[in-house]
Amino acid sequence: MSDSVVVAGAVCDGGRLLAARRSAPPELAGRWELPGGKQEPGESGEQALVRELREELGVEAEPRERIPGEWPLKPGLVLRVWTVRLVSGVPSPLEDHDELRWLTPDETDTVDWLDQDRPAVAEAVRRLREA
Ligand code: CDP
Repeated sequence: MSDSVVVAGAVCDGGRLLAARRSAPPELAGRWELPGGKQEPGESGEQALVRELREELGVEAEPRERIPGEWPLKPGLVLRVWTVRLVSGVPSPLEDHDELRWLTPDETDTVDWLDQDRPAVAEAVRRLREA
């Protein structure tokens, strides 16, 4: 059976990357992540990401490019990440998060990212610096 997938977005706007602080579960609360969630049956990764960012942040967003690679979360579950452009709305922490921060490339090390998000964050920051 193929792995289940969690999709997440490196949301970039004005040269900054959006970081979201998890409010649950207790073992992850306070750590920072790229917002996203589980891909549901019948959805593409991009569709799942658009839905998750709408639910969690209240924004319309457009997945741009998949960041190559996937990262294991636990047996049978992997993380995939896309760069994302904001189409409309201002992100607010509606679900799963209690704080959002827009970070410049030089600020991305100032928050405690989930370990599994770090490679994709590094790649997103590399692309931000080049843009
Ligand atoms: O909301 P939903 O149940 O769809 O997903 P979630 O609880 O936000 O994420 C499911 C799992 O993916 C959790 O164990 C998160 O820790 C993990 N995750 C992650 O490691 N990195 C992210 N950027 C997003 C989620």
